Amino acid sequence: MVVVGGGSVAHRRVAGLLEARARVTVVSPEVTPALEALVEPGSLTWVARRYQPGDLDGAWYAVAATDDPAVNAAVAEEAERLRVFCARADDRSASSVWTPAVGRQGDLVVGVHGGGDPQRAVGVRDAVVAGLTDGSIRDRAARSPEGGRAGSVVLVGGGPGDPGLVTVRGQQAVAQADVVLADHLAPQSLLASLPPEVEVIDASKLPRGRSMAQEQINALLVERALAGKRVVRLKGGDPFVFGRGMEELEACVAAGVPVEVVPGVTSAIGVPGLAGIPVTHRGLTHEFVVVSGHVPPGHPQSLVDWTALGRLRGTVVVLMGVDTAGAIAAALVEHGRAPQTPVAVIADGSTPTQRVVRTTLTGLAATLADEGIRPPAVWVVGDVVGLAPQL
Ligand SMILES: C[S@@+](CC[C@H](N)C(=O)[O-])C[C@H]1O[C@@H](n2cnc3c(N)ncnc32)[C@H](O)[C@@H]1O
Repeated sequence: MVVVGGGSVAHRRVAGLLEARARVTVVSPEVTPALEALVEPGSLTWVARRYQPGDLDGAWYAVAATDDPAVNAAVAEEAERLRVFCARADDRSASSVWTPAVGRQGDLVVGVHGGGDPQRAVGVRDAVVAGLTDGSIRDRAARSPEGGRAGSVVLVGGGPGDPGLVTVRGQQAVAQADVVLADHLAPQSLLASLPPEVEVIDASKLPRGRSMAQEQINALLVERALAGKRVVRLKGGDPFVFGRGMEELEACVAAGVPVEVVPGVTSAIGVPGLAGIPVTHRGLTHEFVVVSGHVPPGHPQSLVDWTALGRLRGTVVVLMGVDTAGAIAAALVEHGRAPQTPVAVIADGSTPTQRVVRTTLTGLAATLADEGIRPPAVWVVGDVVGLAPQL
């Protein structure tokens, strides 16, 4: 493929061609920084000069995307003579091919022509892709095990609870699922939109409450997938941050079940972010540590080096640490952290009941009790907590 021109129009066309795995040559004295960045890794070839007749030799497809209509016309003429399809960015009536608005969902490609109106094409393309993503348009062949497709498992990180914080890929996987095993911290409203024939299995693990054993979850994933179902394991946050996602992946691999991991917005970073608290800030914090507080310092099962964490200057984010907050705060102070270090507690992050409470390390345990904070909550220790009130 030969693209003549190196500006923003050429850039957009090149992006589409590279997505289709074309071998692309760009002819232009100058290119945008984004196009230049593709040269070094070998994603495209850049001929750094103006177009010359003969540049389309051996091409399958040409794009004329300069800001000079005379050059674009010359490119189109050469293409016509060589019987190479040519898209003229400045004159669709002089083009031998029109570029559709393209959308992708996995291996499915949707192309829309808008009868000469590119915005119309984009609007319909977006509507179709959105429908495929949220399940209101069903890709029946993709869903049908009888269609010859083997069962599979997708481990989807659902983010902290707001359905708007699920990735597009995660939402697509849920929309195509035959079976969804869902955690209570995953976005529950995604389940509401599933058709009745989709099996939804409650795989919640309530803190100190009812809980499906991990072995049972693993067994269900494998069993349903081996029965030819498309199984989604919908988890809160990211599957690999205190989520036991690796155990589920290992169980699938051991059983020969194809498995895909879709990362999610982890509550460790996303929930403080929603409260306006960055886990890093230039000139203030060059590190952040995410730590599980499900067992307190000194507990025989604890794997955390609390002495090292107490010496840390940067940000400490604690998950599963409501009941253990007092013991953890005391350990951090004992090992060097200033007692007045600011702390923010964010409960029910990203949901309508989100609460943010501010305190200090020494005041943490009393604040949690006074405010009646319940899981799920993350708490953040460090100078970054002091930034948000200045906003
Ligand atoms: C078992 S861990 C799972 C973490 C998850 N994999 C992630 O990446 O966010 C559960 C803990 O995550 C935190 N958490 C998850 N969702 C939360 C939310 N919406 N608001 C506050 N904390 C949340 C809480 O500390 C909760 O106890």
